[in-house]
Amino acid sequence: MTEGSALNEEVGSPALRELLAEIDTALADAEQAFGRAGDLAALEEARIAYLGKKGRLATLNQRFGQLAADEKPLAGKQLNARKAEIVRLDAERREQLERAEIERRLEAEAVDVTLPGAAVPTGRLHPIEQTRRQVEAIFRSMGFRVTESPEVETEWVNFEALNILSDHPARDMQDTFFTDRGKVLRTHTSGNQIRTMTELEPPLAIVSTGKVYRCDSDVTHSPMFYQMEGYLVDKAISMGHLKGVLESFIHALYGAKVGTRFRPSFFPFTEPSAELDMACVFCSGSGCRVCSQTGWLEVLGCGMIHPVVLRNCGIDPEVWSGFAFGLGLDRITMLKYGIDNIRLLYENDLRFLSQF
Ligand code: DAH
Repeated sequence: MTEGSALNEEVGSPALRELLAEIDTALADAEQAFGRAGDLAALEEARIAYLGKKGRLATLNQRFGQLAADEKPLAGKQLNARKAEIVRLDAERREQLERAEIERRLEAEAVDVTLPGAAVPTGRLHPIEQTRRQVEAIFRSMGFRVTESPEVETEWVNFEALNILSDHPARDMQDTFFTDRGKVLRTHTSGNQIRTMTELEPPLAIVSTGKVYRCDSDVTHSPMFYQMEGYLVDKAISMGHLKGVLESFIHALYGAKVGTRFRPSFFPFTEPSAELDMACVFCSGSGCRVCSQTGWLEVLGCGMIHPVVLRNCGIDPEVWSGFAFGLGLDRITMLKYGIDNIRLLYENDLRFLSQF
């Protein structure tokens, strides 16, 4: 303690002694109050209570009026000394609390560099797009080129040029969305044959994927779905080439062991026509719900391009021949993953899509 300690009870008037005692008490109280303050806000409150304009020391200061003139310097000296001590205690406690606050924050914000990183959600390709790329890559590796054609198509390209005449039952088979001016939303990608073969000279090996539209909707049909059309035109092309290419394709897609078979079929734009089945990927051919107990799954339609179609594109069928095939990318995708409802592919539910 400083100057005040020399004073004793015999010195000065009772008013002075009382004031000096209260100044000492104020110091002791301040020390306690600062110690109790658990954070900077509480300390600031305590500082104002003692050192503020209306604080305890200011109140004591006002009591100087009750002192004799010669007692005032002593009391003033004492009050200033105690005040200095309180200011020092406040600063000391402030520093302590600030350091504690910094330490608390350092601890709270500490980075553990050994923790695994937070997973960043990534986008991914839609399963049909994955299938499209995979299937295109297989045909590219066999020398096929990829071309595109419009989704809004003339009736000539979508039907007539493909030998599907207006009175042909195949037109009823394909429930068509007609647009203005005699155009249609293409019902299949086969029109790509007409567009590309009209434009380019053979030899040609083309695949073309894209959206097609039919007025049809149930668990296995969607009004919009995806197809791939493929065809090859060259000299002396036979069913043997067709079989070789399509079997290679199935083996590239599902593995070299999967069995295949060709069944005779009918399409107006191919002659002869066939359908390609592969052994059911779910039961390996023994029969299950997916293959309706037949052991086989229909994969695609195919055939030798009809001479009428070649002629419609300005290609001489006496010189050139070719094969064509068409397949559903939705169906391939559903078979690949065992999806039994086509609508799942178009609902854009991330819980579904994020599985692929
Ligand atoms: N266009 C046919 C369809 O939509 C699929 C098809 C079958 C295409 C046989 C072909 C083919 O090129 O040869 O069902």
